[in-house]
Amino acid sequence: MNHDDKTGGILILDFGSQYTQLIARRVREFEVYSEILPWNVSMETIEALEPKGIILSGGPRSTIGPDAPDIDPAIISGSVPVLGICYGMQLIAKTLGGKVEKGRLGEYGRTGVKFDKSLEAKIIKDVPNEIDVWMSHWDEVRELPAGALRLGSSESGACAAFSMESGRITALQFHPEVETTEYGREMLYSFVFDICGCAANWKLGDWVDRALETVKEQIGLSDRVVCGLSGGVDSTVAAVLVSKVAGDRLDCIFVDHGFLRKDEAQSVLDMYKKLNLRVRHVKAEERFLRALDDVTNPESKRKIIGELFVRIFEESAGLSGNARWLLQGTIYPDVIESGFVGGDVIKSHHNVGGLPSDMKMSLLEPLRELFKDEVRKIGPLLDIPDNFLKRHPFPGPGLAVRCLGSLSRERLDILREADAIFISEIKSAGLYDSIWQAFCVLLPVRSVGVAGDVRTYGETVVLRAVKSLDAMTAESVRLPWELVDRVAKRICGEVPQVGRVVMDVTGKPPATIEWE
Ligand code: XMP
Repeated sequence: MNHDDKTGGILILDFGSQYTQLIARRVREFEVYSEILPWNVSMETIEALEPKGIILSGGPRSTIGPDAPDIDPAIISGSVPVLGICYGMQLIAKTLGGKVEKGRLGEYGRTGVKFDKSLEAKIIKDVPNEIDVWMSHWDEVRELPAGALRLGSSESGACAAFSMESGRITALQFHPEVETTEYGREMLYSFVFDICGCAANWKLGDWVDRALETVKEQIGLSDRVVCGLSGGVDSTVAAVLVSKVAGDRLDCIFVDHGFLRKDEAQSVLDMYKKLNLRVRHVKAEERFLRALDDVTNPESKRKIIGELFVRIFEESAGLSGNARWLLQGTIYPDVIESGFVGGDVIKSHHNVGGLPSDMKMSLLEPLRELFKDEVRKIGPLLDIPDNFLKRHPFPGPGLAVRCLGSLSRERLDILREADAIFISEIKSAGLYDSIWQAFCVLLPVRSVGVAGDVRTYGETVVLRAVKSLDAMTAESVRLPWELVDRVAKRICGEVPQVGRVVMDVTGKPPATIEWE
């Protein structure tokens, strides 16, 4: 398949689930082309894509409620294999004459499911009789459509899966795309290859080609683009990608807001030079600190920083000739958490939520549909060095959201020093690449200590190290105790203002990765 040929892959019809992009991501991991379209797309569009299979996603609505999103029955009754997930399952059942009703309890989270393997259904051919799955539903399928085989039941007795026409129509009440579902990948693999007969011929290189085409169409032949480089992986990959199309029309602005890690500004500027990006270095630490004077509320900090960023971009764009586009390295987790995919707003987040509504430029976000690990895989295709791509994610507002309470250069310097010690010890222990994110947080809390027989009243530093696949959930990393002990001693010894080092062992949920 070349990048112009979008046929022969898996089409996902989106009913607004938080997990829809995860389905696409799983399918793409199999190197099969996958595209997401809204549930109400026309039959002509679907036919033009000639999909080898169609997946109906989950969604927040009820098929039995008013305004339930519906589809053309021809999509299900045609010859193309269809997999319904959660809402998609209930929609198939309802459309083909089954009965969907509100369950007594609903099932949310990890749930046990038992399958009937004697039916030899393809979808569960590589799956044991009993597994744990991720459920998230209230309604359930009470009566199957005529000719359907019930493949499994959940702990509460609800139908967990059914199939029809030797598997051409398959329906799962749980979410195979979510990590928690055991054998989820195997089920999707069976659907994509055994049921749909797809070929593994979609490469990330093809994604790059398509993204370049899209950017070319968006910016035309004369629009100028401004990019706010943060020093992070996402904005760098976005800038290098767009520079291939925009050339001299791309002006990168590296706003040094004064919330960067130790020595970071110089090292990223060196890197940008190697990548041939034209970068203007705007030193704005004073301006940001002034704007944040006495601001302690996390959301206010984010909003003020986001707004000032854009104002500085706009000023710089003015200097470089009226840019029409603001390029950002927004990736998919930023988008879903801000509720832009059709589901509910979970929280107003990051680049996406913090921009002022009267911004003059349009947003260019070529990485919007990708997950972090996909962005990292694209990097080498754009000749971005590996050690840069493997750097831990860093929030746009930087240390401002890791320095709790009011900000000052002194406190930020304390945080920078402590953070540099923590990261260097993690690197020396060979653990850096296996950790999603490690960093220090400075609390607005002092405590009493004793050093050389003298009473101290020092600052508190928190160590946070998490593992995660996509930042949507995270677990605290169990660092070797000798390492934690060494880091604590070094921080208290080398950063005299710090009197206490503590460790954050909370997962996400209930906490978020960053403290603010
Ligand atoms: P939370 O704290 O919501 O963060 O669990 C999830 C991931 O996003 C990063 N993060 C940001 N990235 N701009 C960004 O580009 C931001 O404003 C921002 N805030 C958080 C965070 O470091 C983690 O990897």
